[in-house]
Amino acid sequence: MANDDLRALIRTIPDFPKPGIQFRDITTLLLSPTGLATAVERMVAAVDGPVDLVAGIEARGFLFAAALAVPLKAGVLLIRKDGKLPGATIAEDYALEYGQDRIAIHADACAPGARVLLIDDLIATGGTARAAVRLLRKAGATVTQARFLVDLPDLGGADALRAEDIRVDALVS
Ligand code: PRP
Ligand code: ADE
Repeated sequence: MANDDLRALIRTIPDFPKPGIQFRDITTLLLSPTGLATAVERMVAAVDGPVDLVAGIEARGFLFAAALAVPLKAGVLLIRKDGKLPGATIAEDYALEYGQDRIAIHADACAPGARVLLIDDLIATGGTARAAVRLLRKAGATVTQARFLVDLPDLGGADALRAEDIRVDALVS
């Protein structure tokens, strides 16, 4: 399956969740067994070197984080919307294409120097991913790479993340 075929499985919903936003909806790709398997295999193949933990961002990022962690023989670290994790947390505020939010991780989620791969379904402004990198680095992780299914390059998030010394790759732009 070509990456153009993966792109064709992602639909665009205009004016969601706010007027003017072109929402790239991956639920249609998730419904396709071939599309999902191809996306996961390609994301795994794009990973550089050994990884101790795959950090997934709530909610859509969780799906890909767990799917990549199994073949990579890594654990999964959950980056959740603030207020959802039961233990002591550290949190970061960020802006996204359609609002403001706050994400958190358990303060003891990773050992110092753990090699953490950041995963999400999509990068737009990069606000979420940059806040995730700040959190992971605060927790002592070594974060050098991030992988996404979709990049919206006009919003500049991938370049902003690269400016923070992260290797960024996405299957579909
Ligand atoms: C979406 C997407 C990314 C983020 C990207 O998540 O899954 O996490 O926006 O946007 P950014 O690059 O501008 O920060 P959303 O916050 O909509 O949450 P959801 O996965 O729970 O729907
Ligand atoms: N997250 C941020 N911007 C988005 C968009 N345009 N489509 C889907 N998810 C998003």
